[in-house]
Amino acid sequence: MDRIEIEGGVQLKGNIKISGSKNASLPILAATLLTDEMLKISNVPELADVFSMINLLRSLNADISFSKNNCLVKPKKPKSLNVSYDLVRKMRASFLILGPLLSRYGYAEVSLPGGCAIGTRPVDIHLDGLESMGAKFKIENGYVKGKVEGKLKGAVIKLKKISVGATENLMMAATLAEGTSVLRNAAKEPEIVDLANFLIKMGADIKGFGTNEIVVKGKKKLEGCKFNVMPDRIEAGTFALIVLGCSGNIILENINDDVSDHLIKIFSPLKNLKLEKRQYGKKLYIEKINKKKINVKISTKEYPGFPTDLQAQLTASLIKFAGESEIKENIFENRFMHISELKRMGANLTLKGSKILINGVKEIYGAELMATDLRASSCLIIAGLMAKGKTKINRVYHLDRGYENIEKKLRNCGAKIKRISK
Ligand code: EPZ
Repeated sequence: MDRIEIEGGVQLKGNIKISGSKNASLPILAATLLTDEMLKISNVPELADVFSMINLLRSLNADISFSKNNCLVKPKKPKSLNVSYDLVRKMRASFLILGPLLSRYGYAEVSLPGGCAIGTRPVDIHLDGLESMGAKFKIENGYVKGKVEGKLKGAVIKLKKISVGATENLMMAATLAEGTSVLRNAAKEPEIVDLANFLIKMGADIKGFGTNEIVVKGKKKLEGCKFNVMPDRIEAGTFALIVLGCSGNIILENINDDVSDHLIKIFSPLKNLKLEKRQYGKKLYIEKINKKKINVKISTKEYPGFPTDLQAQLTASLIKFAGESEIKENIFENRFMHISELKRMGANLTLKGSKILINGVKEIYGAELMATDLRASSCLIIAGLMAKGKTKINRVYHLDRGYENIEKKLRNCGAKIKRISK
């Protein structure tokens, strides 16, 4: 298993090309099951999770070529509609194929995704919504077996909780259902907007995406299309927080106006971080402008609030600022696995229920650490870059699920970071 080694204490300076969004690419790849025509999807990041989704689609008989961030998909009628535990256990997002398979073929057997380090992560909202559209489910031997008599029917569905994945699954299923569907209390993440734009290019009739009420008029068939995936806002936000923690200045490239505006908004309470749009938002200049005290209270929220996927990174970036800050995690029940590792480096962190209290310390020290999940891995990289001395991070397979060439991108900005393949 690979590990990452970091020599801390270096300021960052340079340009970073942001990769395509993992959390847009995964549902978009799942949506290819809604047609049997050729689709060309560009700006797809080369990540472990993307390869997992591609392997899953290949197990459903799709022909897929993927090189230099371009993905050519030619879906074909699956020989089997059973998606194995081995494929789903690797990645929860595999569950996003349920809606497309039920809508297109009227049958699907998908392993229930297990929980993961950050929480139990049930799928009840996905199943409730699909049942409202006429699907019948049995849960047997850890599998969800779904069946539809005829076609799914359009329905008015109120999600009992805002869920990104359930909104995506139901929106995809509704595109080939008979009649109109209305999704209320829908998630509004930009990745859902990107998925909706992809489906519309395939011929779907979708309105209201990006708001909490999405209306989908079912069509008989969807076609192939070409599509360019949006930039990864969580990767971009991670680099901004690395600058906050380590000092210096960077320019993010291959970004867009919406992502730039979102980052400027969510980071506005952090007065020590300057973000400035360049070239109409296609580039974003980020600089740490002072070392003043930071006393912020930030709560993670559904979009457009502060993303839960940046919570661990924000925690790390505040460790060496004088003052007392508080971060409240409202989305997942256990997204705190990084705290014990940060405390081993000398951070002064206290977990009270779902609140993380951060009391600034003058220095933290390199240590041997273990990554526990994707965003915790990037948080440990931030801490290693900030620390005095050497840090080793084990189990970086977590990191490879969601960051494309992160150590190369950071090395190009002066960081002393390398990957040791054992
Ligand atoms: C998506 O996960 C993202 N993953 C996550 O990013 C992200 O943290 C999350 O949305 C929240 O923004 C992808 O897009 C591939 P949810 P998802 O359904 O869809 C509960 C990363 O780091 N819930 O919005 O699984 C759930 O337990 C990953 O890139 C139910 O109770 O998240 C959670 O508490 C991590 N029942 C809350 O809703 C359900 O049926 C939000 O989950 C579904 C969800």
